[in-house]
Amino acid sequence: MASLTVRQLDERLKQLLRLRAAKNGRSVEDEVRTILREAAEEPGPAQPAPVSPPTPAETAPAAATTKRVLLIISGGIAAYKSLDLIRRLKERGLAVRCIMTKAAEHFVTPLAAGALVGSRVFTDLFDPAHEFDVGHIRLARETDLIVVAPATADLMAKMAGGHADDLATAVLLATKAPILLAPAMNPAMWAHKATQRNLAQLVADGIKLVGPNEGEMAEARESGKGRMAEPLEIAAAVDKLLAAHLAPLPLTGKHVLITSGPTHEPIDPVRYIANRSSGKQGHAIAAAAAAAGADVTLVSGPVNLPDPIGVKTIHVESARDMLTAVERALPADVAIFAAAVADWRVANAGVQKLKKTAGQTTPALSLVENPDILSTIAHRRTQRPQLVIGFAAETENVIANAKAKLARKGCDWILANDVSPQTGIMGGDRNTIELVSADGVEPWPPQSKEDVAAMLIARIGAALSK
Ligand code: CTP
Repeated sequence: MASLTVRQLDERLKQLLRLRAAKNGRSVEDEVRTILREAAEEPGPAQPAPVSPPTPAETAPAAATTKRVLLIISGGIAAYKSLDLIRRLKERGLAVRCIMTKAAEHFVTPLAAGALVGSRVFTDLFDPAHEFDVGHIRLARETDLIVVAPATADLMAKMAGGHADDLATAVLLATKAPILLAPAMNPAMWAHKATQRNLAQLVADGIKLVGPNEGEMAEARESGKGRMAEPLEIAAAVDKLLAAHLAPLPLTGKHVLITSGPTHEPIDPVRYIANRSSGKQGHAIAAAAAAAGADVTLVSGPVNLPDPIGVKTIHVESARDMLTAVERALPADVAIFAAAVADWRVANAGVQKLKKTAGQTTPALSLVENPDILSTIAHRRTQRPQLVIGFAAETENVIANAKAKLARKGCDWILANDVSPQTGIMGGDRNTIELVSADGVEPWPPQSKEDVAAMLIARIGAALSK
C-alpha cells in the first residue's frame, strides 16, 4: 500500500483539510483517518464539509511596503461612519482587516464591512475555522496599527481593565502595535468619572486618541462632547501615527503655531473693518506642517475655508482675540504669522447698532492701533519659539520694507511678497515669495500657495535639524 503523508498534499488541499479538521474539532491526522474510514464504510464518496477557503486577502501577507491597519468596530450608532472610514483607509493604499464586536453587528453587518474591506470580517474569538486560519494572535501581530472606531465606553472600560473575553479585546490585549481610539458615546457617558478614569489609564498606557468631537448626537435634542471624529480626521490620524511609527517625519514632536486669515474689527455689533486676506496661505502652511508630523495649532481669523485635517484650529475674530489665543497656545517650537492682522481697531465701537439719524453728521470712526502679535511673540523673554517667522505683505519697495520689518519685529525670517492688486496674490491661489533672513534674500519661484507651504516647511525642517 502506497504511503502518503499530509505534508505531501498540495497546499490548497492541506488548507481545506486543516479548516475541516478545525471545524470538527479533530487533529488533521484524525480528520484524514475519519475521511478514509467513511470512504471505506459508505457506498458513495465522502463529501467534505462545505468550508469556504480563505480569500487571498486573508491568507496572502501584505507586500512589504504596504502598511496594515486592523479596524475594530464596536457597537455604537457611529459604526455606520466606520464603513466610510474603511473606504478612506483603502484609498490610501492600506491593507485593511476588520473585526466587529457582537454589539457592532446591531448597527452594521459584517457583510457590508466585508464587502468594503474586500475580505471576511472577523467576529468570533472561538470560531474554530477562523482560529485555525487567522487566529487572534495573528490578527494582533500582523498589523502596523489598530484603529478602534467607534470605541464605546464599554470597550474602553474593558481595555482599561485588561479584559479579553471576546475577539476584539483579546486582540487589543495581545497586540504590540500602536492603538488609535475614536471614542463615540453620549456626552453624559463621556463626561462620567468612570469613563474619564478609564481614559486616563488608556492614555497612560500609550493609547492614542482622535476625538471625540463636540456636536449633535444621534439622539434627538442631545448635543455635547461625544461625537465620533469624522472618517477623514481618523484617516489623517492614522497617516500620522503610521508615519511616526515607521519613519519619523521632519517635524515629528515639534509644536508649530500658525496665524491665518484676516481679523474683523467691530464698528458696532453688525459692522466691522476687514481686509481681503483669504487665509489660503496660512491654512496651506498648517496642512503642510501637519503632514510633516508636527502638532499644529492654527489660530484663524474669519475665513471661508474648512479647518485643515489633523490640525487644532482655534477660531477668533479680532486682533486682540488672536493675540490671546496665540499666547495661550505657547510654548511652541516654531511660530508662523501668516495672518493679515488689522493694524487698527475702532476705539469708539458702538455697543448698539449705529443708526442714521436725519440731520445728524455721519459718525467719525476713531482708530487705535492693535497689538502687533508677531512682534509681541518675537520679543518675549520667556517661551519665545526657536523660530519666529513673519510675512511682509507690501505693495512697493518689497525687500527694503521686509528688511526693516525683520529688524523692527525681531523675527528670524520674513517671507516677503508683493500684494499689489495686479499680482492677484491677495485672495488668489499663487504666491511669489522672497525669503529675507540674517543670511540674505532668497527669491523663490512663483508657485501655488501649497507649494510655498511645502517649501517653507522643508526649510523649517532643515533649520531645526542643524
Ligand atoms: N502682524 C501681526 N500683528 C499685527 C500686524 C502684523 O502679527 N498687528 C504680522 C503679520 O501676520 C505678518 C507681519 O506681522 O507676519 C507683517 O504684517 P504686515 O501687514 O505686512 O505689516 P505691518 O506690521 O502691518 O506693517 P505695515 O502695514 O505698515 O506694512
